[in-house]
Amino acid sequence: MAVSSNDGERRGWRAAAEEALYGPEGFYRRPEGPAAHFRTSVHASPLFAGAVARLLCRVDRLLGRPAELDFVDMAAGRGELAGGVLAALPGEVAGRVRVHAVEIAGRPAGLDPRIAWRGEPPERICGLLFANEWLDNVPVDVAEVDRDGVPRRVLVGRDGTERLGEPVAGEDADWLARWWPLPAEPGLRAEIGLPRDTAWARAVSRLARGLAVAVDYGHVSGERPWYGTLTGFRDGRETAPVPDGSCDLTAHVALDACAAAAPAGLTGARVLTQREALRALGVTGARPPLTLASERPADYVRALARAGQAAELTAPGGLGDFGWLLQPVRLPDGAEVLPDTAGGAGLFVDVPDDEEH
Ligand SMILES: C[S@@+](CC[C@H](N)C(=O)[O-])C[C@H]1O[C@@H](n2cnc3c(N)ncnc32)[C@H](O)[C@@H]1O
Repeated sequence: MAVSSNDGERRGWRAAAEEALYGPEGFYRRPEGPAAHFRTSVHASPLFAGAVARLLCRVDRLLGRPAELDFVDMAAGRGELAGGVLAALPGEVAGRVRVHAVEIAGRPAGLDPRIAWRGEPPERICGLLFANEWLDNVPVDVAEVDRDGVPRRVLVGRDGTERLGEPVAGEDADWLARWWPLPAEPGLRAEIGLPRDTAWARAVSRLARGLAVAVDYGHVSGERPWYGTLTGFRDGRETAPVPDGSCDLTAHVALDACAAAAPAGLTGARVLTQREALRALGVTGARPPLTLASERPADYVRALARAGQAAELTAPGGLGDFGWLLQPVRLPDGAEVLPDTAGGAGLFVDVPDDEEH
């Protein structure tokens, strides 16, 4: 661990990242938006927005086609997903849907006027709340085991140099013990995911009926990385995490902990891979038949391009390994928004309904 002399300016990673990302000069306040620095599934292909639109249509049917259906693009970036979903919806649904983009940054110029831009989700959502790559940007503190085997809060300066602070205590220590227990081996690290659990529970609590989905790189109990995952991104490249506003600061999400944090009484949370979720929504990387090339060459080329994009969205070792946390809210008994494929194949497991912190 690097150490320098100006210890007085150091604070926990959570506070440091909060300012570096969302403060007045923060990384996410910049006009160019996240897409200038990294590619999410939303930017990889319009097939992603198409799949989310189909998911919204499924939720709509399960809700009995309400007169006012909500689509909430939570942590909307520059509203790219909101716009893509609107464009992909069948006319009848597009006529009924209210689209809300929830973002800390300001409304981008030229955004479709049908998209409402807001700082918080609506109080009462009936429909689909979809959060793509939000929770990994909810700042968290980092714990590191000291030479006596005690987990301590990592303090960081604006230049990224670190030292160990006080032992982790209170609800953060409880969270670590429950979700990310650290063996007494010096240097092991964990990201304390409690603020993400709280943020997710708050967002889910805004749903009167429907489905909430969080999509992120994640991990589950028993498979946590030994040294954590905190990292930076700038100009399309991974970089050292430095909380000075110059780069994104991100850490993978303990999706099982978020799932278990859902408001009391809500059951049925599941976590599956993006590969499984997108396949269930009709996105596959299957190549078109060669016969199409001679019969309808233009269609063949288009289908080939679609297959390439679908392959990227579902790729092992890439976007396909993202986790989809699904939280149904007061949907009809037995309703299945996506076929239950998580049990056998996926990286993740079902989350027990009765789990609590
Ligand atoms: C990695 S970007 C993802 C953008 C978009 N969802 C996508 O997939 O391309 C994360 C975004 O979350 C926003 N964000 C973080 N915390 C937020 C919050 N509490 N409310 C609204 N937006 C938030 C950031 O400003 C940033 O634009």
